[in-house]
Parts: sequence; structure tokens; C-alpha cells
Amino acid sequence: MGLFDSKKSYQAGQVDMSRLPRHIAIIMDGNGRWAKQRGLPRTAGHKVGAEVFRKIARYCKQLGVEYLTVYAFSTENWKRPADEVETIMGLLKQYMLEAIETMEEEKIRLKFFGDLTPLSPELQALVEKTNAMSKQIDGVQANICLNYGGRDEILRAARAFARECAAGEKQPEELTEAAFGDYLFSAGVPDPELIIRPSGEVRLSNFLLWQCAYAEFYFCDTLWPDFSEATLDAAIIDYQKRDRRFGGVKK
Ligand code: FPP
Repeated sequence: MGLFDSKKSYQAGQVDMSRLPRHIAIIMDGNGRWAKQRGLPRTAGHKVGAEVFRKIARYCKQLGVEYLTVYAFSTENWKRPADEVETIMGLLKQYMLEAIETMEEEKIRLKFFGDLTPLSPELQALVEKTNAMSKQIDGVQANICLNYGGRDEILRAARAFARECAAGEKQPEELTEAAFGDYLFSAGVPDPELIIRPSGEVRLSNFLLWQCAYAEFYFCDTLWPDFSEATLDAAIIDYQKRDRRFGGVKK
């Protein structure tokens, strides 16, 4: 069997379908180590990682999760070797080209979080096209964090609001948590209830710093290329056992 089998119907195991997180965010980590373990170049890990993203986005749609946000490329990832950066950008391009063909049928709409201005004009045009198409699609929303950093996102929002204050359009007192959210890349998207980091690393690495305030975290040792529907089930089942109090007390 290949990496994904569209005919196979995955049973949701013990997932309580009535208490699914609306929004799951994932740091797709471990591609490099997965490749190294097999004597392959790191780029081979990213290629499999992109396939796994497709599989998990489809599974989220199947489950009824409304938003899936993934960390594809951070503001710090430009420091990686040029061939690795090129491969990741190539995979994103390939995915967008594919999405343009299949979005109506697949019902997976796309949104990009991050500063896209350093991307090639070709990639920027594809982002615009997929964004426009996505507005017509009613399905799971995949948010792809690309040239994204949580601190950078907060700074940009603060600057945008400060500019409006300086122009006399806003007063500092008007800034509430909800209003601030509207200046973020994630404007209009509910905060993730569940953030998953596979590969054994136990840190956030500048991912969704504002949005993670009340998120539940799930860490596991699985490397992203080995991440499966069953791994996601395990994360959701674990999340469903948590007692989420949002600073209140147990009822
Ligand atoms: C982290 O693993 C992974 C990345 C920095 C890149 C993730 C990008 C993709 C999976 C491709 C994106 C494509 C689509 C279609 C969303 P790592 O390289 O840091 O792994 P390591 O810690 O084992 O070295």
C-alpha cells in the first residue's frame, strides 16, 4: 500500500466525534532525521513529509476538523542549505498546482500565514490564485505557515495598530484581545485547541505564540514522515481526556 489510500476508510478508533477540536495545529518535525536514518538526503524526508501533510489534511476533512494549521517554513528556516530551501519551496509549489486542479473535489481550502513577500513571483501568484479559489470552497481549511514566525506575526500586528493610532484612526484603548487577533495572519480563524509536535522535541519554536494561549499540547516521538491517521487519533483521544478549565475551576 502506498502512503495514502483514498479507498481505505479509517475508523476513528475511540475518538469522540462529538468533542473534536475545531482547529488542530501541527509542527511537522523530524523529516531530516527520518531521512538520515535511511541514508537518504534530508530533502527525501521533506518529500515524504509533504505526502503525509496531504494524508492528514484529508483525514481532518474526513473527521470533521474545521482547521488544520501546519508549520511548513519558519522565518529562521532560510538558514538551511539552499538545496533544502529550494526543495521545500518546490514541494509547496507542487502542492498549490495540485490544489488548483483538485480543490473543488477535495474540499480542502488553503490559507497561508506568514510574510510572503520574499517568495518568488511565481509562488506569490500561486498563493493568490489558491487564496481566491479557496473562498469558493466549503471544507476543511488548511493554513500553511510559510516564512512564518510567531514573534514576527505579533510585531507586525502591533506595528499595524500603532500606524492606525498615529494616523488618528484608532485609540490605544480600543485594542482588546479580540481586536488584536484581527491584525494577525490568523484573523478570523479560531485559536487551535490542540497543538501537536511529533519527533520528540518539546518546544514551540516560535509557532502560533499568540494563538496558543489556551491550547492543549501533544508531543510524541513519531517522526513526521511516519505520522499517520492513527497518530492523529492518539493525539485527539489524549486531548479529549484533558480537563480544559481556561483559568476557571472544575464544575
Ligand atoms: C521540520 O523537520 C520540517 C520542515 C522545516 C519543513 C516541513 C516542510 C514540508 C513537510 C513540506 C511542505 C509541503 C507542504 C505541501 C505543506 P526538520 O527538517 O527540522 O527535521 P529534523 O529536525 O529531523 O532535522
